[in-house]
Amino acid sequence: MKYQKEYQASIQNPEAFWEVQSNQIDWFTKPTQILGKDEYNYPQWFADGQLNMSYLCIDKHIEDGFGNQNAIIYDSPVTNQKRHISFNELHHDVSKFAGGLASLGLTKGDTVIIYMPMIPQAIVAMLACARIGVTHSVVFGGFAPHELAIRIDDCKPKAIITASSGVEIKRIVPYKPFVDEAIELSQHKPEKVILYNRKFGAPCPLHERDIHFMDLLNNSEPIAPVSVDSNHPLYILYTSGTTGKPKGIIRDTGGYATALKYSMKKVYGVEEGDVYWAASDVGWVVGHSYIVYGPLVNRNTTILFEGKPIKTPDASTFWRVISEHQVKVMFTAPTAIRAIKKEDPEGKFMKKYDLSCLKYQFLAGERCDVTTLRWLEEKLGIPVIDHWWQTESGWPMLANMVGVELQAVKPGSATLPVSGYDIRILDDNGNEKSANSEGYVAVKLPLPPGTLLNLWGNPERFKNGYLKQFDGYYASGDGGYKDEDGYVFITGRVDDIINVAGHRLSTAEMEEVVASHTSVAECAVFGVHCELKGQKPLGLIVLKENNTLDATTISQEIIQMVRHEIGPVAAFKEVLVVKRLPKTRSGKILRKLLRNISDEITYKIPSTIDDVAIIEEIKEVYKQNNVGQFKQLVS
Ligand code: COA
Ligand code: AMP
Repeated sequence: MKYQKEYQASIQNPEAFWEVQSNQIDWFTKPTQILGKDEYNYPQWFADGQLNMSYLCIDKHIEDGFGNQNAIIYDSPVTNQKRHISFNELHHDVSKFAGGLASLGLTKGDTVIIYMPMIPQAIVAMLACARIGVTHSVVFGGFAPHELAIRIDDCKPKAIITASSGVEIKRIVPYKPFVDEAIELSQHKPEKVILYNRKFGAPCPLHERDIHFMDLLNNSEPIAPVSVDSNHPLYILYTSGTTGKPKGIIRDTGGYATALKYSMKKVYGVEEGDVYWAASDVGWVVGHSYIVYGPLVNRNTTILFEGKPIKTPDASTFWRVISEHQVKVMFTAPTAIRAIKKEDPEGKFMKKYDLSCLKYQFLAGERCDVTTLRWLEEKLGIPVIDHWWQTESGWPMLANMVGVELQAVKPGSATLPVSGYDIRILDDNGNEKSANSEGYVAVKLPLPPGTLLNLWGNPERFKNGYLKQFDGYYASGDGGYKDEDGYVFITGRVDDIINVAGHRLSTAEMEEVVASHTSVAECAVFGVHCELKGQKPLGLIVLKENNTLDATTISQEIIQMVRHEIGPVAAFKEVLVVKRLPKTRSGKILRKLLRNISDEITYKIPSTIDDVAIIEEIKEVYKQNNVGQFKQLVS
């Protein structure tokens, strides 16, 4: 009942609802225009409000007397370090580093790229940019220099902030050399590279443009937060689209702060002062919203974890962190839980720790399979909550809003729409589908505050990609259905985006790389089922007639090319040679069919197919190579 009341209020009168929520944050100038619309009828929240995100995350709490509270607990099993950072200490570092950025000439309206591992300096860099109105774009460390170069050319940063190195399970990641390589590749040349030297990994010779992070911080005067418009871009976050070119999601400031504050309390059920942990990476949206800005706006202590769920040092690491730092609510991806379950199926490690502090375990980033959800529920004995959102939305769209009223968990469903999201299941013509019938998941406009403002430098793609498919709706790109109780079940993407270990990747982008190999005549890349990572990419290639290389060499070369061009995060490890690819008579490759055959999904052979016999050939290749579920299908 409480949930229905809250939700209905947000849908029936969004303006009144979000005006109340906006009063929960401190504006320099309170907005008088609550909800406006742009030329596409797209919502603009709080247009005349003025504020500063760094102020909300730091200064405000110090003014309220909480300067000594831990803002960040940095826990790094990969370097054996732990550090507690209070709001006072964070203020010291952020205000001085922001002063340093300003001394380099960076100012409101400029952009900066942050390419860093999970270290406190990454958060300092983000907040320092926000303090002086510089728009940051954090790039995930698993992307290769070529991908970084694409982002440099798109958002044209004046500076790049980086570190010498990061630590992966099997290797050291050479961040700074990657930055240098990316700048070699890019057309746009940033004026400065600011380097945090971790003093391990590859040597980092300084170029003329380089400057040490700590020198800049230590030698600069602290600076006060500047006032920015509510719609000032706090950040650009690149995400995978259906073409090879990543799209830069623009996030506003005032709507985002309002939505995050609301979600910390009402979705995650944490109060000021609680310890909250999102085990993700600052390079993803989860990191932006729930490692950095959400918890800090809400005066929570946020955990910055530099490690993995397993092998750092073992599958007990999550439970150790929860118990040691008294985490109240945790958020991770189902893949992480599957990895732990594989190493410790009995949950013996969990029993070693007192986990009574943990009230809710949230999961998102990919579909959560029922087995994983049930296993975790049983082992933890607390509600395990699957919730659904995207880089575009910036905060949850479907969830069990435990801060309002805990609903019954239905495994396989991310529960009910979050306040402000009027979620509908539509057919091809934009008509609503009946209960239990699958369709496109769309959100009726207006979207609530905090969701994407636009795409950086590409308003046409924004309009065409999200608003044109269904008039008056935002198209999420996901498919799903609602049951008779209104619970929404997300069934997967309706486009060529895949989700590997909770990382969103574009198969179109991988396909472009595969197609560029000199022996490849044509190819298809698509996602197939993976026990651990949910999905993994598979490449099928048809070789050129005049090719002289052997198939193994070609496959190895292609795998290396994808790793080099996109990065290890693509997890592209399998390429198979086929004689032909199934196509429509008009020449379109039937990728969905290729995927469905491998995943044992019931498939209809499209009437437009040019040659049915190809399907049997493909099945034979899958069978020989033990692809996806195929072995079970034929046995
Ligand atoms: N910087 C550099 N490389 C990175 C990276 C980073 N930040 N993150 C991942 N990579 C690399 C990995 O080292 C790996 O490289 P490899 O091919 O040399 O082994 C590759 O990218 C693929 O990474 P991943 O898919 O994460 O696999 P993994 O085998 O390293 O780890 C898990 C498996 C399950 C432990 C890991 O996927 C995991 O922790 N998943 C949770 C996902 C998550 O938190 N997602 C955030 C969204 S909410
Ligand atoms: P990202 O933008 O990287 O956060 O990825 C967003 C995409 O991940 C969504 O569009 C979904 O396809 C998928 N996703 C995220 N959370 C869930 C979930 N709880 N259930 C199913 N899919 C999810």
